[in-house]
Amino acid sequence: MSEDVLFQLNGVSKHFVRGKEEISIFDNLDMSIERGDFLAIMGPSGSGKTTLLNMLGGVDQPSGGEIHFDGSRVDNLRESELTRWRAHNIGFIFQFYNLMPMLNAARNVELPLLLTKLSRAQRRVSVETALALVGLNDRARHMPNQLSGGQQQRVAIARAIVSDPNLILCDEPTGDLDRKTADEILEMLQLLNREHGKTIVMVTHDPEAARYAKRTVHLDKGRFEQREVAA
Ligand SMILES: Nc1ncnc2c1ncn2[C@@H]1O[C@H](COP(=O)(O)OP(=O)(O)OP(=O)(O)O)[C@@H](O)[C@H]1O
Ligand SMILES: [Mg+2]
Repeated sequence: MSEDVLFQLNGVSKHFVRGKEEISIFDNLDMSIERGDFLAIMGPSGSGKTTLLNMLGGVDQPSGGEIHFDGSRVDNLRESELTRWRAHNIGFIFQFYNLMPMLNAARNVELPLLLTKLSRAQRRVSVETALALVGLNDRARHMPNQLSGGQQQRVAIARAIVSDPNLILCDEPTGDLDRKTADEILEMLQLLNREHGKTIVMVTHDPEAARYAKRTVHLDKGRFEQREVAA
């Protein structure tokens, strides 16, 4: 395996069982994602984009096959190992921000660090750094409902990067934002990729959003149809 490969999926299958019915989403899927990539995943609704992202992030397990991250197999980790692996390596960004409504911006950003051994003082420094990176230091004490959608998504980005993960997984990160705000968020993701070396996998319906990525893959019926797109 090349040293540049961060994620390697070998013969991954995924099916869901609902009553007597078995729904096959992926069958024998191979995929590799290189370190430093910014990959956009597009495809029709129901094609398995979120399912794939959840398997990459260890939120969902494949039914068969193997997933390797940074040379180690991760699809068969125990729950406690998985939680630790996720906390150190993965940042998640969702369409509807998923901030905790009762916590202010700084507390939301701090959440992933509660799973680490950092002291309170160290956590405060990391939170300030992450909020500064998304330009929201002056909103640290605001509650989510006192922030605009774009600001909430920036808080979510700060939360995703606060533990300095290698990989950021985003599911429709601009799906709920207007064009201008979406472009701001996408520029931020691009900056994280280009200047901070983060590997980014972004699911999107929006061809304009995909243009910010280095490459785009199209998922349909559990298969990739690959077309290179100029960055
Ligand atoms: N927990 C589950 N149990 C049963 N079926 C599921 C489950 N999760 C997803 N599916 C099915 O798997 C398929 C893929 O779902 P997924 O959410 O990955 O699609 P998607 O590409 O993200 O769609 P969208 O663009 O609408 O978000 C769908 O047919 C869905 O009904
Ligand atoms: Mg989805």
